Amino acid sequence: MASLTIRKLDDAVKTYLRLRSAKNHRSVEEEVRVILRELIEGREEPLTPFAVPSPAPTPQRTGALAEASVTLIIGGGIAAYKSLDLIRRLKERRIEVRCVLTKAAQQFVTPLAASALSHERVYTDLFDPQSEFDAGHIRLARDCDLIVVAPATADLMAKMANGHADDLASAILLATNRKVLLAPAMNPLMWTNAATRRNLAQLQRDGVVLIGPNAGEMAEAGEAGTGRMSEAIEIANAAERLLRPPMPKPLAGKRVLITAGPTHEAIDPVRYIANRSSGKQGFAIAAAAQAAGAEVVLVSGPVDIDDPPGVTVKHVESARQMLEQVKAALPTDVAIFAAAVADWRVANEGEQKLKKTAAGMPPLQLVENPDILATISKLADKRPRLVIGFAAETEHLIDNAKAKFARKGCDWIVANDVSPATGVMGGDRNTVHLLSRKTGAPDGEIAVDSWPAMTKEQVAIELVAQIAKSVTGKSLESAS
Ligand code: C5P
Repeated sequence: MASLTIRKLDDAVKTYLRLRSAKNHRSVEEEVRVILRELIEGREEPLTPFAVPSPAPTPQRTGALAEASVTLIIGGGIAAYKSLDLIRRLKERRIEVRCVLTKAAQQFVTPLAASALSHERVYTDLFDPQSEFDAGHIRLARDCDLIVVAPATADLMAKMANGHADDLASAILLATNRKVLLAPAMNPLMWTNAATRRNLAQLQRDGVVLIGPNAGEMAEAGEAGTGRMSEAIEIANAAERLLRPPMPKPLAGKRVLITAGPTHEAIDPVRYIANRSSGKQGFAIAAAAQAAGAEVVLVSGPVDIDDPPGVTVKHVESARQMLEQVKAALPTDVAIFAAAVADWRVANEGEQKLKKTAAGMPPLQLVENPDILATISKLADKRPRLVIGFAAETEHLIDNAKAKFARKGCDWIVANDVSPATGVMGGDRNTVHLLSRKTGAPDGEIAVDSWPAMTKEQVAIELVAQIAKSVTGKSLESAS
């Protein structure tokens, strides 16, 4: 067994190991043992509890944008040439590919070609002299999100069905706990042979997913039938569906209106009254509702966040402009008023910049802004079926939120403590309480559901899940 000299590792790795071992009160050697154990057990424990100083150690996975990884086993058949295209198609979809070539596959494609296309080392041997730990097949079997076998030859399928592990490909397939996608390719008579049928039935019972084979002409002159490997694009699409299952769309066909951010109320052309709302919670709700399939209109005050993709965003400054855009967006099924609307504006907005005068401070007379939430809640026509207000409070959170039901006439209130110590205003986390009128309960009885501290994105997803359940009866998990 090879030994590892910590001293010879590059500086970034050494620094990382020193920091991590100090944090965990272990020696550096012991820390390396823990890291390797985690790696082999396929645990996703944080290997980087803090930033790795640059230059970073050589990453195991390439491509900063890659979101998923595939171990691609290329079997020995003429269709192997299509697997080279498959590597490209997977990479286009931001899927990393590590290739394993069986001995027979190397008769059709070279490891060099697969390596050049995948930008990764290619694996061919079970006992790889380059691997210090002889556990390469375990890593290839588990350090990926999906295993694709293309072409899956009759021989590979037979080995798999019977649990053989006498080469790297079959050992990976036996050692994996990941989903396996097979793209069979063989002569039509081999495909219909009783032995292949038996193996296929066994593999399907084992949970293996199949793509193809297609019918058509064979490479062998004059032969046709079922046995052609699916096209690279079909296999890549099937892999993507397994890696990124389509999100359920419980709010499909529903219109959702959201207000977000602060409002700016002009004092004069250069000054305004504002508040510290960042708009993050409202934008997160808009993104979550859009992801749940809703048609979303977001009316936002001035914020420093990019518009969420797929959402119609109306940018406004003042409360009165916000109300105008909200009314224009109706009718909607749901309206969520997350904006921190200024309660007052200046009655006599200066046309020119106010000047200091000997007479002292200019008098700023304030008048009340329209209450957008109350206005929409009390609409006789076009009232959304579900109207949700927010209560941002710095004291007596639940009592103040409960009092809002009567004043505003909405159906639910999301209450959150925004006192400076919480860091909610402008921060990324939120602790909220969902207040709703108890169904069937006498007037005024209100249920309070207190959620644990979460990121604003998680609050948004949970709120959208509750909305979907209320409006459609569908859950985020079950809807399609
Ligand atoms: O009592 P308060 O006005 O703070 O209630 C906050 C809730 O009312 C939030 O949902 C906020 O978006 C909404 N609101 C509004 N128009 C206003 C003031 C508040 O829509 N002018």
